[in-house]
Amino acid sequence: MAPRLSACLVFLLILVLSLQESPLHAADTLTAEQPLSADQKLISQDGKFALGFFQPAGSSSRWYIGIWYNKIPVQTVVWVANRDKPITDPTSSNLTILNDGNIVLLVNHSESPVWSTNIVNNTIASSPVAVLLDSGNLVVRHESNTSEVLWQSFDDFTDTWLPGNKLSRNKKTGVIKRMISWKDRADPAPGMFSIQLDPSGATQYILLWNSSSVYWASGNWTGNTYTGVPELSPTNSDPNSAYTFQFVDNDQETYFNYTVKNDAQLTRGVIDVSGHFQAWVWADAAQAWQLFFAQPKAKCSVYGMCGTYSKCSENAELSCSCLKGFSESYPNSWRLGDQTAGCRRNLPLQCGNNGSVKAKQDRFFMISSVKLPDMAHTRDVTNVHNCELTCLKNCSCSAYSYNGTCLVWYNGLINLQDNMGELSNSIFIRLSASELPQSGKMKWWIVGIIIGGLVLSSGVSILYFLGRRRTIGINRDDGKLITFKYNELQFLTRNFSERLGVGSFGSVYKGILPDATTLAVKKLEGLRQGEKQFRAEVSTIGNIQHINLIRLLGFCSEGAKRLLVYEYMPNGSLDHHLFQNNSAISSWKRRYQIAIGIAKGLAYLHDGCRDCIIHCDIKPQNILLDMSFTPKVADFGMAKLLGRDFSRVLTSIRGTIGYLAPEWISGESITTKADVFSYGMMLFEIISRKRNLTQTETRTEIFFPVLVARKLVQGEVLTLLDSELVDDVNLEELERACKVACWCIQDDESSRPTMAEVLQMLEGLVDIEVPPAPRYLQVLAEGAASKT
Ligand SMILES: *[C@@H]1O[C@H](CO)[C@@H](O)[C@H](O)[C@H]1NC(C)=O
Ligand SMILES: *[C@@H]1O[C@H](CO)[C@@H](O)[C@H](O)[C@H]1NC(C)=O
Ligand SMILES: *[C@@H]1O[C@H](CO)[C@@H](O)[C@H](O)[C@H]1NC(C)=O
Ligand SMILES: *[C@@H]1O[C@H](CO)[C@@H](O)[C@H](O)[C@H]1NC(C)=O
Ligand SMILES: *[C@@H]1O[C@H](CO)[C@@H](O)[C@H](O)[C@H]1NC(C)=O
Ligand SMILES: *[C@@H]1O[C@H](CO)[C@@H](O)[C@H](O)[C@H]1NC(C)=O
Ligand SMILES: *[C@@H]1O[C@H](CO)[C@@H](O)[C@H](O)[C@H]1NC(C)=O
Ligand SMILES: *[C@@H]1O[C@H](CO)[C@@H](O)[C@H](O)[C@H]1NC(C)=O
Ligand SMILES: *[C@@H]1O[C@H](CO)[C@@H](O)[C@H](O)[C@H]1NC(C)=O
Ligand SMILES: *[C@@H]1O[C@H](CO)[C@@H](O)[C@H](O)[C@H]1NC(C)=O
Repeated sequence: MAPRLSACLVFLLILVLSLQESPLHAADTLTAEQPLSADQKLISQDGKFALGFFQPAGSSSRWYIGIWYNKIPVQTVVWVANRDKPITDPTSSNLTILNDGNIVLLVNHSESPVWSTNIVNNTIASSPVAVLLDSGNLVVRHESNTSEVLWQSFDDFTDTWLPGNKLSRNKKTGVIKRMISWKDRADPAPGMFSIQLDPSGATQYILLWNSSSVYWASGNWTGNTYTGVPELSPTNSDPNSAYTFQFVDNDQETYFNYTVKNDAQLTRGVIDVSGHFQAWVWADAAQAWQLFFAQPKAKCSVYGMCGTYSKCSENAELSCSCLKGFSESYPNSWRLGDQTAGCRRNLPLQCGNNGSVKAKQDRFFMISSVKLPDMAHTRDVTNVHNCELTCLKNCSCSAYSYNGTCLVWYNGLINLQDNMGELSNSIFIRLSASELPQSGKMKWWIVGIIIGGLVLSSGVSILYFLGRRRTIGINRDDGKLITFKYNELQFLTRNFSERLGVGSFGSVYKGILPDATTLAVKKLEGLRQGEKQFRAEVSTIGNIQHINLIRLLGFCSEGAKRLLVYEYMPNGSLDHHLFQNNSAISSWKRRYQIAIGIAKGLAYLHDGCRDCIIHCDIKPQNILLDMSFTPKVADFGMAKLLGRDFSRVLTSIRGTIGYLAPEWISGESITTKADVFSYGMMLFEIISRKRNLTQTETRTEIFFPVLVARKLVQGEVLTLLDSELVDDVNLEELERACKVACWCIQDDESSRPTMAEVLQMLEGLVDIEVPPAPRYLQVLAEGAASKT
């Protein structure tokens, strides 16, 4: 048996090795002899970037050639070759470089490429190669002479601006480089929005819609920033800034360029499908991109943001609303944050009387205090009545406005905006008569419309505010839970493509709202509870608010699907920082503050809120850290949500065992003191930054808590202070923390303090006696040792 097994293993090993060798094209260079096929990729020398065939997340049948970040778990494409010419079958395709220096994408053994670099006159004598550089730039150059460059992807922007690249205007040739947004998040074809330098020669960048309408300009460069982007200026003069940038304006060309001082820091600028120019940095701890800059700040200034027959309001999180008499063209995408399709009429216009005897005329509905829509036509008439008639006469006229000048609009109204400022106007929207209350006389009709308009516009805003919670904008202050639809969450999480982690009761996914707010969406598994009870429990949890508790923002309960939506914590879990990434919380002071914060959160859960909540699953994975490392207890209320299933789930999870109080195993009833025990176990880990329990294939060791307990009894806790604990440790706090932790893990729950007492002890408000060594832990440790 044994020899056969080992022969088998050797065979497997060889198989694995040989499998790994053949498809990996682990080089950074594409040569004429070695085309790149679907299962291969080029990797830049430092491993940061990869080039190859890819499918955008959310697209199933379209393949592209692109460059992406190779070392991060989130698909982030920075360049696409064949952005509007996808291929369907990568297995019959390859990317190759021809002898004339052109890189071509070939399909079905056809000679004519789907995509090509289109180099016309090769200036390189021989041996062109394509190299993927560490900057993310793909360069076609002479095999040995690196300065003979024929083509580079940096000159061929998609939607991303990487450090070191130049979005330039060439003064000699007049060529202006331009970045164009993707069509949507799953389609890299050119979309509606672009950014480029101002062709007029001004030293500013402009954002354009459909390559024609400028909707934002940065303002001219002043020497260290743009007039419209003052926040850039301190960054440039700060020697500690992570970036350096420069605006170059010489005889040849004009451009802005930037570099990152720390080469390992990933950063990129993007013209997003929402029409915003955004700058993102990769946060290693959170394993996620973080937005640090976005323009334009005024949402309504993004061209066509709300589509046609819709009004944009700046002072609201969800900005668009359909005009009276209109409804969303695509209610689904509208609710999911894409309103660019706008609204359409509920009832068709009569437009004349269609020859019928008593047909109704179309009428107008007034909206006041607005910034008028784009594309108005001036009509030469002298009073408001004639202006209205002018509009009525033309079936495609959709609105008019009169302020001394008669303005009319044909077909769709776009970029109508709420405006409280001086330039505000009133506009009259043409509607089918049946949309408006019938009234006999013209004059009364006008008065009626004006009063109706006032009432309606306040009505609309009330409805709007009521509606806001139902829609996807999130108001963090009002505390009401949002009920999400499953397909909304599917959309926000890009079909659950980005998993943040796996918890005890399901996986957590990242979701992004249209306004770039990030969410954590938890898909609950194994929940057998009815809808009514689930809603009741969820609303209890939603009512609990404390700085050290994670906020529940909303939920979804549809059929058997149960999801919870939480605020997103950019710094990830305490677990990650304690055991994997030591830098961020290496300072003792920060860790002590974290311990106190968690104690506050738990004390609040136990005594502070109306219904006492036992967390039941305190462990470092369930403590999340926000931007400033304030700890937030996550996953509370699960015990209530899961009911009887809870302890079954809990005790069947290996990783949790080290934190569970003895009463879980003995089957006694669980009180808040079970949380105190778990907190104590976790406090040891916060102190030592080592796992209490190490489990290998053969043995389990419970080291630190047992050691501390012994040393405390012997009065020698300070001998623990070796290289494992950092040098900025406060001795008094260390001793206090050790004693507290040891009290928390007492066998008898009545000996353990309450969380409120823990807090007082940690804050140094009460003296702490020396705790006795807990038996349970010793037994557990001995039992574990004897198993080996
Ligand atoms: C390649 O061949 C497949 C199947 O024969 C066909 O469906 C596809 O359209 C072809 N692609 C191109 C680009 O010709
Ligand atoms: C690459 O693709 C082209 C066109 O399909 C084909 O002619 C060529 O043989 C392929 N080369 C390799 C090495 O597969
Ligand atoms: C390429 O070279 C040919 C012949 O020298 C010349 O006629 C043509 O204008 C050149 N094309 C470009 C784009 O430089
Ligand atoms: C490399 O190419 C540059 C530009 O074409 C040329 O000036 C230089 O002499 C070349 N160097 C070598 C070593 O061939
Ligand atoms: C920006 O610069 C251009 C030319 O350099 C100038 O014409 C324009 O007036 C400037 N804009 C502002 C707002 O100063
Ligand atoms: C965008 O511009 C092109 C030409 O400039 C025009 O034909 C097209 O209709 C425009 N698209 C939209 C949606 O207005
Ligand atoms: C910008 O580009 C110029 C010329 O390529 C270069 O000298 C300069 O160092 C670059 N500056 C930054 C901040 O990248
Ligand atoms: C009136 O005529 C127009 C154009 O012929 C048509 O689109 C519309 O539906 C008709 N309206 C009614 C109420 O019949
Ligand atoms: C209505 O106005 C549009 C735009 O000015 C024009 O093209 C059209 O001919 C007009 N229709 C009538 C019936 O006057
Ligand atoms: C009326 O509106 C137009 C366009 O907004 C503006 O140019 C004009 O100055 C306004 N006239 C008066 C009298 O307010």
